[in-house]
Order: sequence, then structure tokens, then C-alpha cells
Amino acid sequence: MEDEPPVRLAPLEDSHVSRYLSLSADPVLIDTMGWKPFDPDDAERFLRYVENITVPYLMGGRTVALSIVSTADGTPIGYLSLKGVREGGTGAEIGLAIMDKDYRGRGLGTIALRQAAEYAFDELELSVLVLTVFPGNEPAIRSYEKVGFKKAELLKEAFEMPDETFADMWVMELSRDDFVNAKARAGSSANSN
Ligand SMILES: CC(C)(COP(=O)(O)OP(=O)(O)OC[C@H]1O[C@@H](n2cnc3c(N)ncnc32)[C@H](O)[C@@H]1OP(=O)(O)O)[C@@H](O)C(=O)NCCC(=O)NCCS
Repeated sequence: MEDEPPVRLAPLEDSHVSRYLSLSADPVLIDTMGWKPFDPDDAERFLRYVENITVPYLMGGRTVALSIVSTADGTPIGYLSLKGVREGGTGAEIGLAIMDKDYRGRGLGTIALRQAAEYAFDELELSVLVLTVFPGNEPAIRSYEKVGFKKAELLKEAFEMPDETFADMWVMELSRDDFVNAKARAGSSANSN
């Protein structure tokens, strides 16, 4: 029998959102997500982040809002959203954050991203995924490159920060082929360990 993965994707529930609001003042999240921490009654503003599309050609589609849940203890540890999904469309934008710092740096975000890519390519039949990331967010860029994402374009001063300055963002793209190739590479390096 195959081992159970350490995280699974599940629908984003109100109780998860409450937990994420309470974790949102973590300095790493303030830096990497470019948000002002959320008050307990700020669920609506948080959901706007979960649904926020930065790549213009995907605007207007629906959002699939998911939670990343730790399999071992059932804890919702972060969110992952697929945005700009539309009938007959070929692409979507991904947003994610491991909100609970105790679960970062353990490979779980990378695994959740692979699960989301499989869902997007196999179930939603998309052919490309995009995401945006601040150039200084090296752990995230490293994680995305492991999944097969490639830097496509640097958007200058594209994201308005809480202090009203504007930050650059990398657009990164993942095609179905790049995903399959990266998975094969990850599999062969795991086998050679
Ligand atoms: C980005 C994020 C989803 C990645 O998930 P994760 O489970 O923590 O990632 P991983 O444990 O797989 O680590 C990713 C890689 O970054 C590397 N890394 C960690 N710190 C690093 C640093 N300062 N510089 C470069 N690489 C770093 C890790 O070593 C790992 O690579 P490796 O497996 O080759 O060793 C998660 O860290 C997170 O949610 N961070 C806060 C919010 C955020 O940045 N969201 C994304 C916004 S675009």
C-alpha cells in the first residue's frame, strides 16, 4: 500500500479561516504576503486575498478555495487557492501560504502544491498554472522551482503594499509537461538517496 501523504487539500471552512486570521500577524507572512495582519472579524478581507488575481488575463473566473490539512493531526495549516478557473479555460493562478509557522520548512507546502497541480491538470484539465512571488522570497521560489515552475516575467511595481509603496513580482509558470518532467526528476533523485 502507498504511504499516506503528510498533507491533503480540503475545502476551506469558516473555522479554518478563523484560525488563519489569528496566525496572520506572523512577521514572515507580513513580509511574504504583503498584507496587514487581520483582526478576528476580518474574514472578508482575508478571503479577498485568497481570491486576489494578479495576472490580468485570468480575471473574472471562479476561485477554488482550499485548505492544506496536516494528515497526522487534522490541523488546517494553510490555504491554497486556484483562481481564474473558467469553463473551457486553459489556465489558473495559484496562491498559497502555510499560515502556521510550525509546519513551514518541512516540505509540506511543496507537496500541497504538487497535489494542486495534479488536480488542476488531471481534473480541471488545465494546461498551465501561474503564480506571482516577491523576488526576495527565496524559500517560496525554491519550492516552486522544485515543482517545475519557471520564472516567466518580472512585473515592475505591480503589488501595492500596506505602506502604499509598490513591490516587484515574478510571474512564474508551470506547464503540464514541465510538471511531469519535474516530478520524474524528483522521483529519480529520491530513489538515488
Ligand atoms: C512558500 C511556502 C509555501 C513553501 O512551503 P514549505 O513547506 O515551507 O517549503 P519547503 O519546506 O518545501 O521548502 C522550500 C525550499 O526552500 C528552501 N529554503 C528555506 N529557506 C531558504 C532561504 N532563506 N533561501 C533559499 N532557500 C530556502 C528549503 O531548503 C527548501 O528547499 P530544499 O527542499 O531543496 O531544501 C511556505 O514556506 C510559506 O507558506 N511561506 C510563507 C508564505 C509565503 O511565502 N507564501 C508564498 C507567497 S508567493
